[in-house]
Order: sequence, then C-alpha cells, then structure tokens
Amino acid sequence: MLIDGTHYRSIWLAEDGQTVQIIDQRKLPFAVEIETIRGWKEMVIAIRDMHLRGAPLIGAAAGYGVYLACLELAAGSHDGFDVGLEGAMAELDAARPTAVNLRWALERQRAALRGADSREEKVVVAREQADAIAEEDVAVCAELGRHGADLLSGIAARNPGRTINVLTHCNAGWLATVDHGTVTAVIYEASRRGLPLHVWVDETRPRNQGALTSWELTHNGVANTVVCDNAGGHLMQHGKVDLVLVGTDRTARNGDVANKIGTYLKALSAMDNEVPFYVALPSSTFDPSMERGVGAIPIEERNADEVLEVRGYDGERESRVRLYADGTAAANYAFDVTPARLVTGYVTERGVFDAHHLAEGLRGANRG
Ligand code: MRU
Repeated sequence: MLIDGTHYRSIWLAEDGQTVQIIDQRKLPFAVEIETIRGWKEMVIAIRDMHLRGAPLIGAAAGYGVYLACLELAAGSHDGFDVGLEGAMAELDAARPTAVNLRWALERQRAALRGADSREEKVVVAREQADAIAEEDVAVCAELGRHGADLLSGIAARNPGRTINVLTHCNAGWLATVDHGTVTAVIYEASRRGLPLHVWVDETRPRNQGALTSWELTHNGVANTVVCDNAGGHLMQHGKVDLVLVGTDRTARNGDVANKIGTYLKALSAMDNEVPFYVALPSSTFDPSMERGVGAIPIEERNADEVLEVRGYDGERESRVRLYADGTAAANYAFDVTPARLVTGYVTERGVFDAHHLAEGLRGANRG
C-alpha cells in the first residue's frame, strides 16, 4: 500500500538475496525506517520485540527466518545443518505464542525442506517457500478484501447516501500482513468501489497499534477518527457504528477468536447494541487443530512496563514517560478470546461464513 504515494510492502527480500528488509514498526508513525535483518537470530528479535507484528506478517517473517537460517548453516561447517535448523525453528516458534501463522509458516517450511537433499537445495527450497508464503498472503488478503467489500456494499445499499461507519481494534492493516491487510483490505476495496466510509480506530493500549491503523488509512485516503479504547460501547449505543470488523491472531475450529486485548469487550458491546461483529480471517490464521479457543489458545503476556509507561514523540525525539508510581504492579495480557457466539461472521478468502460453516468452508485452504 502507499506511504506518501509510494508503494511499499511490509517485508521483502533485499536485492542481495541474503538479507530481509522490513519497515521497523516501532518507529511509526513518526518515522519510516527500513531495517535490514541479517540473520535468523535478528529475525527472532524482530518478531519478539515487535519491530514487525500482526499475525500474517509474523508468519511471513518466520518463513524468511528459516531461509536466513538455511543460508547461515549452509555457509558453516559441514556438520549439524539439520540440528542447527531445528534449533533456529524452535527459537523462531517461541518468539510469540498467540499468532498461529508463526507455527503454520514453520510447518510449511519443514514440509517443503523434507523434499530437499543437499544443503544447497535446502537453501533454494527455503527461499522459494518463504517467497510463496509472502506472495500467497498478498493474494489471500486481496481476495478477502473483495468478499468483505461485498458485505459493506450491502450495508451501503440499505442506507443510500449515508456514510458507513466501521469500528476496528488494533492494526489488521497492510502493516500487519505483507500487503493490503485483512480488515483494511476490506476497507480499501470498499473505498475503491466509491462507498462513503469512515473508520473509528481504537487506540489499542498499551502498544497503540491504532496509531498504525490511523496512519496507514490516512496515507491511503480513508477518513478515520481515533478513539480511546473505552469509547466503542458509547459509539455503538448511539448508532454511530454500522459494523465492527477486527483481525485475529488465531481462530479455533469452533470459531472462537483470539485477537488483541479488548476485542472481547467490543464484541459484547456489539451484541448488546445489535451491531454486526465480523472477523477478517485469512485461512493461515485458522487453527483447525484447536477445537475451541477459550482457555486453550495461548495468550501472550508481555512486559508490564508496556502498561506502566507511554511511548511518544515530544516533537524532537521519541521518548518514554512513566505513568505510575514506582513499584506499581501491572499485568499485560496481549490478547483475549472472543467466543464464537458473539461473532456474526468470518470474512475469509473463500467467502463469508458463520461459525457453523467456517471449518467446512476453509477445509484444505491453509496447508499451502
Ligand atoms: O500484538 P500485535 O500487534 O502483533 O497484534 C496484532 C493483532 O492483534 C491483529 O489484530 C491480528 O494479528 C490480525 S493482523 C491482520
């Protein structure tokens, strides 16, 4: 998508073919900085410390992490390629626990590498597989966007001449995928079709991914307004939201949805106010091995300092400010699980499904 009129992806293989480049999302929205990832260990750090983030992008990054590991191991001594690769995969896998795309991408790499004999062949296969994961993500998001835009077109047709208000939480934008986004693919496609749209953007404490969403929507010409995380209930109660559309980090077989902390409260409020609540779900984020999500999907707990501090820009530089007295106890649950009963539908690359038809609709879709 566009930054100041120039097209970017969130991750790509550098021209040298030996390193990977990403947009360092810690610097956004104040600066667009490209970071070069020079090895698999740097990729682990980039995923863990959120230089990049968002489930599909984490998957693509893991795919390239395996390629970087193969490159490094192929250049090393002749022993221990396979053991070294398993070690690298285990560290990549442990970088963040909730987004299933990470494990999915590693499984894809593992399956593809089984068919390669020599180290040279493994390097080639790992690169092809990483590129394929990234390219497929772009295609899947574009297709998902078309199905979701049909949904918005329906709402617009029932409300002629009125702006359609979508509320979203966190960043399920192009920055969270390789391109287009999941939630934003729907919004960009609807906007291309000329639908009058406005997006309410939850700020999404403590990491403020709403700043990313607002920034990317603005760069791509979509009207949006940031609200604090607690505003959604009020907006829905007063008829200011036509549809809630959120992303997901892992959706279980029964349709339970793990997404950024606070999503569950939005779903409860949507149910109480009869506002449709949809989830944008690329099949790579569907976990058919997990029967249900509540109590089963691993929920990442991050450093409490993310809650105790705010990060911002003081006009000259980025700075951190403490909000609480020294010694204050804080907990930082990064995700929650919204039960399937609160979800109106799932927008996927294969169409829009309700929870009862989701597993069947996505059968065989995400095994690459
Ligand atoms: O902690 P983050 O920023 O990686 O969390 C991201 C989200 O919760 C997104 O909503 C989700 O990954 C879907 S991205 C298309």
